[in-house]
Amino acid sequence: MTGPEHPAYWRQRWARGETGWHLDEPNPWLVAHASHLPGGGRVLVPLCGRSRDLAWLARAGWHPVGIEVVEDAARGLFRDARLVPTERQVSGATHLEAGGIEVWVADVFELAPSAVGPVDAWWDRAALVALPAFLRGRYAERLRRWLRPEGRGLLVTLEHDEPEREGPPFSVSPDEVVASFAPRPVRLLGELDLRTAAGANATHPAPRRAVERLWLIDALG
Ligand SMILES: C[S@@+](CC[C@H](N)C(=O)[O-])C[C@H]1O[C@@H](n2cnc3c(N)ncnc32)[C@H](O)[C@@H]1O
Repeated sequence: MTGPEHPAYWRQRWARGETGWHLDEPNPWLVAHASHLPGGGRVLVPLCGRSRDLAWLARAGWHPVGIEVVEDAARGLFRDARLVPTERQVSGATHLEAGGIEVWVADVFELAPSAVGPVDAWWDRAALVALPAFLRGRYAERLRRWLRPEGRGLLVTLEHDEPEREGPPFSVSPDEVVASFAPRPVRLLGELDLRTAAGANATHPAPRRAVERLWLIDALG
């Protein structure tokens, strides 16, 4: 099997139903802390999978814009929301839209920046931590570039003690978060020790020793 830096790896995981990260409800961190995001704005949801978070954001008045490389996952997101998307081809990518939700079926590293940005906010859950270390810098650079200066991001990370070769979700330290989004101020909003919280409150399906953290990547200046 190829590694998580390749879309083929993710296509295979979706095809095999190896999607233990998927939640059948909106993410509890998002629901509890979405008020930090600029009201009514465009919220980028990179590597969105089939996440219910986009439908929740749309219902709550935001304009979610997902990016997902696996087409079946992106279409499933609309089916789950009982929406039939309109479809168009733009700059080599498929753009799906319905019910105030947009999703680009594309590799986040290939999508033309002008197709997406600028955005007022982004919501990253299981996206940064899905990428190996050598790609995370490039990914964070895209998020920095797409976000308006006054925009804000909400980021969920996982820190654990397993080596990178074990595959995603990868461990991301607080120092990496601060360095990745400088010069934006970064604020820790919440922390969950999955050793004690595994089960009802754990929003990552990781049974191993792990700390999940919610970060606010704040406006510039
Ligand atoms: C761990 S899942 C998380 C999905 C979603 N954020 C959630 O919370 O359910 C990572 C997702 O990113 C997608 N993905 C991986 N690499 C990608 C890339 N380079 N561009 C766009 N999507 C990608 C995968 O297909 C997968 O659906």
